[in-house]
Amino acid sequence: MANILLISGSNLELLGEREPEIYGTTTLVELVEIATKTAESLGHSLEHFSTNAEDEIVGKVAEARKSFDAIIINPGAITHYGWSLHDALAAFENPIVELHLSNPHAREEWRKTSVVSPVASGIISGFGADGYRMAIEAVDGLLKKAIQ
Ligand code: DQA
Repeated sequence: MANILLISGSNLELLGEREPEIYGTTTLVELVEIATKTAESLGHSLEHFSTNAEDEIVGKVAEARKSFDAIIINPGAITHYGWSLHDALAAFENPIVELHLSNPHAREEWRKTSVVSPVASGIISGFGADGYRMAIEAVDGLLKKAIQ
C-alpha cells in the first residue's frame, strides 16, 4: 500500500466553472473523488493538497519527502514559471507524475514550457478528467516496477 499525494495548484479550485470548453465541467472535488476511488481500488491511500500559492506547494513537497511514496501534481499556471517548485520536486526521490486536464502543447506558446517535466517520471495531459484516474494507475505501475 502506498501513500500518494495529489497536489492542485493555481486556479484549479475554480474547475467546473472556469473555461469549461478547455477544462471540462468536472469540479476539483469530483476529480479528487475519481483519484481517491482509483487509489483505493488499487490498495493505496490518497491525500489532496490544494493552494494558489507556489511557496505552500514547495513546503508541502519538502514535507512529502518523509511521508509519501509518490506525488501527482497539476500545478496550474505555476507549471510554466515556478522554478522553486522545480527544485523542490528535484529533491523528491519517489515517482512524480505531472498532470494536466488540457494539452498545454496544443495551446499558447508560453504554456509549452514546463518547469516540472524535467523532474517528472512521466506526464499525463489532454485527457480531461480521465487523466486523474490514469495518473493513479501510472503511479501504481511505477511503484510495482520499483519493488520488482
Ligand atoms: C492546466 C494547464 C495550465 O496551462 C493552466 O495554467 C492551468 C491548468 C491544465 O490542467 O490543463 O491552470 O494545468
